[in-house]
Amino acid sequence: MERPNRETTVLILINSKNGSTVRLATEIAAGVEKEHVRAVIKKVPTIDAKDAELFKEIPVATIDELPGYDGIAFGSPIHFGNMSADMRHFLDQGIKIWVDQSLAGVPATVFMAGGSGLGRESAILSFWNNLASQGMTLVTTGNIGAAAAGARALNGNTPFGITTIAGREPKNTLSEAEVDIAREQGAALARAARALSSERPHAKKSASVPAPPKRRTIDTSALGLPKAPKPVGNYRAAVRSGNLVFINQIALKDGKVLHPGVIGKDVSLEQAKEATKQTMQNVLAVLADALDGDLNRVERCVQLTGIFNTPSGFAEHAQVMNAASDYVVEVLGDAGPHARGTLGAASLPLNSAVEIQAIFEVR
Ligand SMILES: Cc1cc2nc3c(=O)[nH]c(=O)nc-3n(C[C@H](O)[C@H](O)[C@H](O)COP(=O)(O)O)c2cc1C
Repeated sequence: MERPNRETTVLILINSKNGSTVRLATEIAAGVEKEHVRAVIKKVPTIDAKDAELFKEIPVATIDELPGYDGIAFGSPIHFGNMSADMRHFLDQGIKIWVDQSLAGVPATVFMAGGSGLGRESAILSFWNNLASQGMTLVTTGNIGAAAAGARALNGNTPFGITTIAGREPKNTLSEAEVDIAREQGAALARAARALSSERPHAKKSASVPAPPKRRTIDTSALGLPKAPKPVGNYRAAVRSGNLVFINQIALKDGKVLHPGVIGKDVSLEQAKEATKQTMQNVLAVLADALDGDLNRVERCVQLTGIFNTPSGFAEHAQVMNAASDYVVEVLGDAGPHARGTLGAASLPLNSAVEIQAIFEVR
C-alpha cells in the first residue's frame, strides 16, 4: 500500500517526573533522526493537575493520534516494577484503537527510567502486555546494547530496551553507555518504521505527520519570544508588501550568535537545531513587532527557507530545519504549515550556523 510523499515519522511518547525519561527520549530521538526518520517527542497528560507544569515545552499527545505514526517509542518511569500511572491511564483510553486494530503492525519499543533499577526488566515486559494487546510489532534491543557500549559499564542495558538507573537522587546525565544504547534503540525503531510503513493493513487510515493543532487565540506576550534583533544596515527587519511580510534572521541571542560555526564540525546537530529554533523565534519576534504585538493577525506562514553553514557532503538539512518548522506550527497551529526549502552555504553572517528567510501572509 503506497503512501507517496509521506515523511516517515516516529512518535516518542513519554511520561516523566524527574527528567530521566526526558533525557532518554532525547537520545532515542537522535537515534531515530540518524536514520533520516522524523522524531516527534510528546508527553501523556497527567492525572495530577500540578504535574502538568512539568516539561511544559513538550506537547501533550492525544490517544487518537497514535495510529498516525509509523512507529512509537514509549518511555516511562519505573513505578514499583511497572509503567507509571499516568502512562497506564493514557494507554487505557485505547479501546477504540484496539477495536479498529489501527495500531496493529506498528513498530513499538519501550525505554524506562528507574531509581534503583529494581524490576526494570519486568517493567518493560509488563509494558509489552499492553502493546501486544494492540497488536504492535515489538522492537527489542537484544545484544545491540553490549555492542554499542563496548567495554564500558553497561548501566541500564537490557535485551528488551534501554533503561537508565538514576540512583537515589535524580541525576543530571545519562551514562555514556546509556546514551549510545538509547541511540541504537531509536535507530532500530526508525528502520522498522520505515520498512513497515507501507505494509500496514490499516495504513490508509493514518497520516504520518500529525495534523497541526487547531488555530487558537495566541497570547503573543506569553510566548517568551526574544527581543526582536534590530537591523544593522540600510534595510528593515521586516517589509510588508500587500498582505505578505518578508523577514530574514540569523541565530542571534542576547546580542551574540548562539552556537556559531560549521554544522558537523564546530556545531553538533543538536546545537544546530537549538540555533535554528532560536532563529525562528527571532523571526516571530520581528513579525510580532510588525503586527503591533499580535500574532493573531497572521493568516498563514507561507514559506521558510533555511540556509545552513555546512561542509560539502552534509545532508541533514531537513532534520535541522524541522526545529523551525515544528516551532512555527506549535505557535500558529493550522496556520503554521508552510512550503519549505533548505540549502547549505560555505559561510553565513557573523559565522551563524543558520539563517532563515520567512514569508507570512497577514491581515
Ligand atoms: C511510586 C514510585 C515507585 C518507584 N518504583 C521504582 C521501582 O520499582 N524501581 C526503580 O528502579 N525505581 C523506582 N522508582 C524511582 C523512579 O523510577 C525514578 O525516580 C526515575 O528516575 C523516574 O523517572 P523520571 O526521572 O523520568 O521521572 C519509583 C518512584 C516512585 C515515585
